[in-house]
Amino acid sequence: MYTEKVMDHFMNPRNMGELENASGVGTVGNAKCGDIMRIFLDIDENQVIQDVKFKTFGCGAAVATSSMATELIKGKTVEEALKMTNKAVCEALDGLPPVKVHCSLLAEEAVHAALWDYAKKNNLEFEGLKEPVADIHEHDHGEEEEE
Ligand code: FES
Repeated sequence: MYTEKVMDHFMNPRNMGELENASGVGTVGNAKCGDIMRIFLDIDENQVIQDVKFKTFGCGAAVATSSMATELIKGKTVEEALKMTNKAVCEALDGLPPVKVHCSLLAEEAVHAALWDYAKKNNLEFEGLKEPVADIHEHDHGEEEEE
């Protein structure tokens, strides 16, 4: 049911933990499954993500997608990280079963929430960055978000 990459990131999660004095912290949850994800970002003066950690209280796929999401945004600029979609996370993991796609959405939203926190603390605005929702379950059907 799960790809080797999903199993690998679940068994050996990358960047698990927290950052003291993080530039941005974001927490999102899905009330339906009860899973919670928190992302910590360390962003330098050039808006490059120097370090990233995550804490996830959730299913195995949530752990694997958090782990992969942190890998995908590490070393990237804020603007590049903003473009990381849940689809990119799924692809990097060689796919997720359809019922688990919402777990990757949690990862995308947690990154956005942490970026939002960073932007707010620094009075910055980024195109496409909106105030995060605390509970993503209203749009967790695995479709692309429509605006
Ligand atoms: Fe909800 Fe995985 S079952 S995040």
